[in-house]
Amino acid sequence: MSLTLTNPLRPALLAAARSHRMERIVSGSTLTRTLVARFVPGAAETAAVEAVTRLVQAGRFVSVDYLGEDISHPDEAEQTVQAYLSLLRAYGKLDVRADDGVRPLEVSIKLSALGQSLPGGEELALTNARLVCAAAEEVGAWVNVDAEDHTTTDSTLAIVRELRREFPSLATVLQAYLHRTEADCRELSGPGSRIRLCKGAYQEPSEVAFQGRDAVDASYQRCLKVLMDGAGYPMVASHDPRMVEAAQAYATEAGRGHAEFEIQMLYGIRDAEQTRLVADGVHVRTYVPFGDDWYGYFMRRLAERPANLLFFLRSLLTRS
Ligand code: FDA
Repeated sequence: MSLTLTNPLRPALLAAARSHRMERIVSGSTLTRTLVARFVPGAAETAAVEAVTRLVQAGRFVSVDYLGEDISHPDEAEQTVQAYLSLLRAYGKLDVRADDGVRPLEVSIKLSALGQSLPGGEELALTNARLVCAAAEEVGAWVNVDAEDHTTTDSTLAIVRELRREFPSLATVLQAYLHRTEADCRELSGPGSRIRLCKGAYQEPSEVAFQGRDAVDASYQRCLKVLMDGAGYPMVASHDPRMVEAAQAYATEAGRGHAEFEIQMLYGIRDAEQTRLVADGVHVRTYVPFGDDWYGYFMRRLAERPANLLFFLRSLLTRS
């Protein structure tokens, strides 16, 4: 069984990721900020652009996420849109071009941060996402819509379907831990589509999600096979060596070359492996988060891996 899904602290950490009280405690520590720097290059756009420049020079592709998810007012959604528009203007100055039709620069958006969770928010999120997609198109960047908890999946996929009519290269994320995902992969992997497959990072009930590593991994591999045999561009988001190997094997079986799929990993995780894959000619995209609102993202990374949590606690203890 997986450390990831059987980690006894995972439910508590994922609950803490949504607690404002815990956020105040954890965010108040200057030490936490030092540790956060492992996963988040900085709060400012300049820090994100510096990381992007470094990664692109090292042969990687990037997807940058402006951190923020739980918003309570349309003004915050507007602020998120402005952050993306500014980032995309900065992309435009980098002079990075598409190769083999693959765009090295991408932004990842969360529809909740664009207004989805507010009253009447679906329409607002659609309008805001459209603005980001149009600006990305102008500078030759891609856009990906991240997946959040399962209560948002139907709404998110409906918005993605609508936007894809105007922006066919718009990507979305499917989470292998959800029972529905294999069917979603079949539906959404048509010609020109881009699907990022991940295991899933939220605490989900057994009515909707596989529980335990073996079931999630088996689902991930079934979904991978559907995507690799499909007509779209699969994006394999996992640090798990077994998933990465399976992806490469299925790609070979399906007759796909290196330019016809990509492996994706998070900034600061298995960096040496990301470098090794690039040296082997594999397309690797690094997900780079930036911004002040790093708390929920950071807590999900701690929940994924007990070693990260131990490192965090050890640092707190040795400091005090
Ligand atoms: P798993 O957690 O099983 O780990 C396998 C191995 O990878 C570990 O044994 C360890 O060696 C290494 N590893 C994994 N996590 C690590 C960590 N935090 N620190 C250090 N080593 C680690 N989820 C979601 O719900 N919606 C989304 O939109 C996205 N988007 C996304 C984009 C990208 C590019 C990635 C890589 C991941 C996501 N995720 C996500 C997160 C995803 O759902 C999942 O929670 C994590 O990737 C962890 O699962 P793995 O497949 O990496 O394997």
